[in-house]
Amino acid sequence: MTSMACSRPGPAGSGLPGDPLTAASLAPVPPSLPGEPPEPPADLNALDAAVWPRSAQRRDGVLMLAGRDVRDLAEEFGTPLFVCDEADFRARAREFRAAFGQDDLVCYAAKAFCCREVLRWAVQEGLGVDVCTEGELETALSAGLPGHLITLHGNNKSVAELARALAAGAGLIVLDSFEEIARLAWLAERDGRRQKVLVRVTTGVDAHTHEYIATAHPDQKFGFSLASGAAAEAVRRVLGCPELELAGLHSHIGSQITDIAQFELAAGLMIGLAAAIRDEHGVEIAELDLGGGFGIAYTAQDTAVGPAEVARRLTAAVDEGCHAVGLTRPRLTVEPGRAIAGPGTVTLYEVGTIKDVPFDGGLRTYVSVDGGMSDNIRTALYDARYTCTLASRESSAPPALSRVVGRHCESGDIVVRHAWLPSDLAPGDLLAVAATGAYCRSAASNYNHVPRPPVAAVRDGAARLLIRRETIGDLLRLDAG
Ligand code: LLP
Repeated sequence: MTSMACSRPGPAGSGLPGDPLTAASLAPVPPSLPGEPPEPPADLNALDAAVWPRSAQRRDGVLMLAGRDVRDLAEEFGTPLFVCDEADFRARAREFRAAFGQDDLVCYAAKAFCCREVLRWAVQEGLGVDVCTEGELETALSAGLPGHLITLHGNNKSVAELARALAAGAGLIVLDSFEEIARLAWLAERDGRRQKVLVRVTTGVDAHTHEYIATAHPDQKFGFSLASGAAAEAVRRVLGCPELELAGLHSHIGSQITDIAQFELAAGLMIGLAAAIRDEHGVEIAELDLGGGFGIAYTAQDTAVGPAEVARRLTAAVDEGCHAVGLTRPRLTVEPGRAIAGPGTVTLYEVGTIKDVPFDGGLRTYVSVDGGMSDNIRTALYDARYTCTLASRESSAPPALSRVVGRHCESGDIVVRHAWLPSDLAPGDLLAVAATGAYCRSAASNYNHVPRPPVAAVRDGAARLLIRRETIGDLLRLDAG
């Protein structure tokens, strides 16, 4: 991949270089419409520290990650490419670990991004790991993780998954349905084991996040509802199964949440249930898992919630709640995924076709890249917002209102809905999209038979593959015809 940056003449009326009209003569894009972009940043080349990996900086105008020039990374691994700053991942894991008490547990939610090496990083930094499928479980086991550090989740675990987790000595299995209680008890009895479990409770708390990633409102598939009494009934049934040990309760209210008050609310409700369990059964729970969901900054407009603040407020809520009802404080667990894996990874794309498209009296530059919704479905699925920058060089050209789109056959194939990019952007330039470490590679697809991109880790000036690039050969091998 070589950069072929050049000045691209704009069509008449575009305000771009070569245009006889100036940008000021254009009808302004209505900036205040919902979903319309904010004002262009003062400096298009600046890297907002809240959004980019901690090691990100420009050297001679080029984006560097952990001391590696992104042009070299693109050359070595190709594009699209996920570049993961190992030190950033580790530091965030460490910060969560340090923020909570020594007796508390921080589990990395593998669904955010799962491969052997990052699961090892999580464990090396003192975390447990939670998994929700056989695939994630096998990745953890094949990475050499001891079973007791693994928690198994899932609203529809198969018998095989439950059996494998039991056999592997999973630390905890989070029960999600009445059928599952019976199924796990049967399997445990069959295998002569006793399994520690949590009961997943749906508290009804509004997570103030996108509907598809809110998980505690009553009308969805996860857990046992608190309000209906299903959670109390699940506890009764677990206590009636000698093969199951009720370790405690679990709540996960949703994802990309920036309002910690909603976690405090959930904590209070869970402690209320714990007190009711004590009153009914004379049993005090040992574990209270308040889930993950801590929001990160994708754009300069977002506010991330840091681990210190999360830990301070959740610990206080649990301490005070337990004190008020006379419960011994259980071990507190949190399960951050995005907050650990998200911010330290960027996606590198090569710019291809560029089109200036008039709309509503304005002009939008459609910048096509060599990936798209197959490596980042979040924009299409959740209307997610991202930050991107010209990475292979800097530019002093004026900003052009741009939309970064993929190569797939859908107009909804948008990577960055609103981007201000330099108006001299050209095919062959490299574009970097920030904060793509969580739920991008892990939710990648082969739509349009596009092979999934690799993930490379960078650290101290060195780069190595975490996941290799899929090939057309890989895809054809699945084709049984
Ligand atoms: N624990 C449980 C039980 C979960 O279901 C999840 C995420 C987590 C922890 C970790 O949540 P985090 O800290 O990463 O927010 N694909 C969506 C996010 C789905 C989250 C699913 N569960 C997205 O791209 O925003």
